[in-house]
Amino acid sequence: MNKLLIANWKMNPDSEEAAVGLAHATDLEGVIICPPFIYLESIRGALKNAQLGAQDIFLSDGKPHTGEVSAAQLKEAGVEYVIVGHSERRALGETNELISLKLKAALSAGIRPILCVGEGDREDPTSEEFITEEINNALSGLDKKEEIIVAYEPIWAISSNEGANAADPDYVKKMIKKIIRLSRKHIHHPTVIYGGSTNSANIQSYLGLDGVEGVLVGSVSLQSAEFAKMAEIIKKNNK
Ligand code: 13P
Repeated sequence: MNKLLIANWKMNPDSEEAAVGLAHATDLEGVIICPPFIYLESIRGALKNAQLGAQDIFLSDGKPHTGEVSAAQLKEAGVEYVIVGHSERRALGETNELISLKLKAALSAGIRPILCVGEGDREDPTSEEFITEEINNALSGLDKKEEIIVAYEPIWAISSNEGANAADPDYVKKMIKKIIRLSRKHIHHPTVIYGGSTNSANIQSYLGLDGVEGVLVGSVSLQSAEFAKMAEIIKKNNK
């Protein structure tokens, strides 16, 4: 399978013009771009090569939900992937239970979820238990055939300046192995990727690890030249 390069723009950029410009500059084969909701329609129109993702989703449970966006609305906007359970949303109070419902909402609309999991502290001896709980809660009860991307994003490795906090590949290797094993209890073929301070200098050290099928990129996805270098490296891995 081709390795994935997923851009999580988070709450950027500040204008539609800048968003469309960035989309044009990073509209590369094999890339998935997840802009803020407000730019989905215009980015959809701008992309010729990359695929479209969203950063969150909400439940269609018949109840009123001010400010939320449903799976049906995302599907209608051309969204093919959605990030679910990012640590920045979990920090706002999103629970494992809600994340499990969001995953199901995405799947039933035919949108492929990118489930984020990851522990909070670098040397935390309970990391494995924490991730086990996140995975079991999110994936239990699903049809084993579901196609889900599981992104391992250790929270302590996210958003560091120039990749300074990027996780050690040996550590990532150990955690990815564990995540694959745990995920396979629930679904036949999890696609497991890494995220956290990735850039063009360190991406290969993750892509070269057994079981890593791509990367989820935050800040560098806003730097088109640097991101394009990452896309080149992904392309070489896919030859
Ligand atoms: P950074 O690449 O900025 O560390 O962000 C990672 C991330 O949170 C992607 O979802």
